[in-house]
Parts: sequence; structure tokens; C-alpha cells
Amino acid sequence: MPRKIIIDTDPGQDDAVAILLAFASPEEIEVLGITAVAGNVPLALTQKNARIVCELAGRREMKVFAGCDKPLVQKLVTAEHVHGKTGLDGIALPDPTMPLQESHAVDFIVETLRQEMPGTITLCALGPLTNLATAFRTAPEIVGKVREIVLMGGAYFEVGNITPAAEFNIYVDPEAAEIVFKSGAPLTVMPLDVTHKVLTTRPRIEAMRDIGTEIGHAVAEWTDFFERFDMEKYGSEGAPLHDPCVIAHLIRPGLFSGRHINVEIETGSPLTRGMTVADWWGITDRPKNALFIGDVKSEGFYDMLTGRLARL
Ligand code: BDR
Ligand code: CA
Repeated sequence: MPRKIIIDTDPGQDDAVAILLAFASPEEIEVLGITAVAGNVPLALTQKNARIVCELAGRREMKVFAGCDKPLVQKLVTAEHVHGKTGLDGIALPDPTMPLQESHAVDFIVETLRQEMPGTITLCALGPLTNLATAFRTAPEIVGKVREIVLMGGAYFEVGNITPAAEFNIYVDPEAAEIVFKSGAPLTVMPLDVTHKVLTTRPRIEAMRDIGTEIGHAVAEWTDFFERFDMEKYGSEGAPLHDPCVIAHLIRPGLFSGRHINVEIETGSPLTRGMTVADWWGITDRPKNALFIGDVKSEGFYDMLTGRLARL
């Protein structure tokens, strides 16, 4: 039986690849809906980009919802410097014509968890955690029904990418992240420590292009676009493909390894706000609340990703 998931996202080219990977993997994954949140770009663009990706994949029937347009407490911080003005720069795709659902993303998350059997719904979070935290605050009884939250966010050894101490998704809404990390729901975290190990090298991008489909071409153009920024920043041979790690973990958990540890979110200090304070070495007796992934077999990851995208 495929796992039922909701993808909460702020597309973003790497979000888009994650969504496509989920669509390409019906044996393992059933996508119940996509909930957009403000993050890489404002909400008006993330909800539109989510629909562009659905239409690219021929999934016009997918339910796409708009969620929170700003973080719980602070002003929205965006990342056009990485993802471009549209959030999906790299290739011009037509504006979507499929509808945006009328209800709010948070209501969809709450209603779905209320309706489905406990332990069946996995929440895949690819952006700031505002929608998830708002759902948990609105309807605390749903937390115990979540099968698992798998999220891209945070860092320990790699520390930060938007400030010296914080990763973007957590930094944008640390108060929301704190609610999610303290919720008690089973949590798997894909931090920069692992995403910085799945780099889009030239041969990997060309393998996507060589698929020879519209989707292979789009993925190659997207990664071409955002890797320029990352290669310059890190001096690396490619860019990290962050968000697809979340979906890949559902498909091939054996590609990844990590530790069950305590992770706390810094919400106070202006210097380190949004930091994931990860007790990787087991120094404290604070309760373990997350499986924090540290390593990945990157060749296996790219073989799987390219093979799956070729199905679409
Ligand atoms: C995360 O931030 C966004 O820019 C990416 O889409 C990813 O979710 C990486 O820090
Ligand atoms: Ca994202």
C-alpha cells in the first residue's frame, strides 16, 4: 500500500523536483494534496508554482491549496537571490489553468488528519513550517494521528545557509519550527548535512536532460539555474538538491542514515535565531525528538531520481 502524503511546499526548483519525484513513485506514494506556504517567494507565487509543476506532470486533478502568507511572528524573508524572481526561474513554463482549491491549506491538513485513520498520513514539509504549526495550534488533537513528519530543514555540521547559524526553512519561521519539533509527532529531518551531499554535478544534470522528455529538460534547466549561485557560494562542483531528499527517504530509506537525537530550535538570540541545536553527540539528557539524517548514498540517490523522473 502506498503511503498517503501531503506535500507542504514553497516551490522553488528543488521543491518542484521533489513533487515530480513523488508523482513518479505511485507504488510507494499517494499524494493527497499539495499545500503551499510563503518561503522562497511570496505565497501568490508558491501556490502558482505548485500548479505549474502539477500541470507539467499532467496532474491537473491534484488538489493544490494556498496556506499561510507570512510566518507566525516575524516578517517574511524570501530567497529570490537563489531561486530567481518567480521562484522557478530557469525555464519559462505556461501559467497554470488548473484551479487553486478554495479552502485554506491549514483546513485541508486538519480535515484530512481528522478523517483518515490514525497513523496513516505522512506530512512532507519542504518549506517554512508555518502551515504545519498553524494546523497543530488550531487542532492539537491531530498531532497524535500523524504517521510521520519528514522535513527538509536545519543543519548541525553545515550550520547555516541564510545566516552563519541557520538554514533557510527554519530561519524563516523559527516559532513554527519550535511548535513542530516539540509536537511529539514522529519526526525525520533532512538537514543541510545530508542535502549538501547530493550535489548536481554536470554528468548528473546531463543525465536528466538525456531523459529526452519535457520533464527531464525542465529539471536540467532548473538545476542549471540555481546551481550557479550555490557553486559560487560554496566553491562546490554542483548545487545541493535539498527537498527531493524528503521524498527519496520515503521511497528508499536505506539510502540514508542518521541518529535519533534531541533537536531544539533557537528562537531568542538575534545572532543564532533559527538555529537547530542538534545533540548529535548525545551530550544532554533532553528527550530524543527527531531522526536527524547525516549521510546519504549520493550515487544511489541520483540513479533512483533520474530513473523515476524518466517515467513521467
Ligand atoms: C531550503 O530552502 C529553500 O531555498 C529550498 O527550497 C530548501 O527547501 C534549503 O535551505
Ligand atoms: Ca523548499
